Amino acid sequence: MMRTATIGSLLALHVAVQASPNLPFVINTWGGPFTTATDAAYLSLRNSTASALDAVQVGCSTCEKNQCDGSVGFGGSPDENCETTLDAMIMDGTTMKSGSVAGLRRIKDAIAVARHVLEYTTHTLLAGDLATQFAVSNGFPLSNLTTAEQAKRCAAWREDNCQPNYRINVSPDPKSSCGPYIGIALNSSSPAYKRALTPDASQTSHDTISMITIHSSGTMAAGTSTNGATWKVPGRVGDGPITGSGSYVDGDVGGCGATGDGDIMMRFLPCYQAVENLRQGMSPKDAAEDVVKRILRKYPDGSYGIVVVDKHGQHGGAGSGWTFTYAFRGGSMNATEVVSVPPLTENRRGAKIVYIKLARAFAQQRRGEGER
Ligand code: GLY
Repeated sequence: MMRTATIGSLLALHVAVQASPNLPFVINTWGGPFTTATDAAYLSLRNSTASALDAVQVGCSTCEKNQCDGSVGFGGSPDENCETTLDAMIMDGTTMKSGSVAGLRRIKDAIAVARHVLEYTTHTLLAGDLATQFAVSNGFPLSNLTTAEQAKRCAAWREDNCQPNYRINVSPDPKSSCGPYIGIALNSSSPAYKRALTPDASQTSHDTISMITIHSSGTMAAGTSTNGATWKVPGRVGDGPITGSGSYVDGDVGGCGATGDGDIMMRFLPCYQAVENLRQGMSPKDAAEDVVKRILRKYPDGSYGIVVVDKHGQHGGAGSGWTFTYAFRGGSMNATEVVSVPPLTENRRGAKIVYIKLARAFAQQRRGEGER
């Protein structure tokens, strides 16, 4: 997770950056190492004949190769068996066609395989070993996605009785033991059943690259690539490859990219909702905030980040549970800029959402101005 911005910089960036620097335009979840992806996608649009779809692929595959912050590409987010699997999707905002791979095994180039699903099949989503078979038959090389460093991490996790993990309502107790596990009987009124609906705050490794591009001609595309959640149950697929969840784009309106707790976020199709919010006339920021608030009302404890851009390149973001950042570059900008978004917080006694950090920053600024 990226949690580096100061409150002062949060405030400055939050209020300053909304307008479009013009086309072409690239925007994606997270700053830091993810800005190499922004630059790669932007430069492909500015300096070559790349389409919006090409640029999304270039951007996301840059993160896959660089492993960004460990949450994209090989060698990150191992499952209980210490295997890295990849989720990716890519979407064309003109045709509304998308291609995805879920739980892709032993292949590094997830976004490129997703592009193959889009371009060489009439399907939308291929999964698991058979997605690998599809990739191999299209010439992608098999690779070991586990690094030596990851293997060491897995050994330490097992040594620590497999803590943390995503198991609930099983025996032996998953808070103190490794598996194999077996489910215990539940009924829908028991406290244990209700606990099953609540995310575990100790599980926070859900970063993702989700990117939206706008070509100089105005055509748009979106894509997502991630290795999911660390210590996931083998077979788990996150929000990344789900159209409308990991990302979404309608070139007539705008696009959206998401990062965060995918198990929760995919229940709300947040990017579909955000683009529909734009269509109803909301600003990008309001569209993003509305989506995060919808999730917070049911799941106030998760970590979520949403970036939204309209077809003109006006943009905004919202997040919760962390200081979310997003990166953008457009028009004739010489470098990528990063926007920090203070977290929205659910006031549990009412439906009111408050910007705790932003309010503090405003108060701090007011105090500072008073003293001068
Ligand atoms: N957002 C990435 C995941 O939960 O898989």
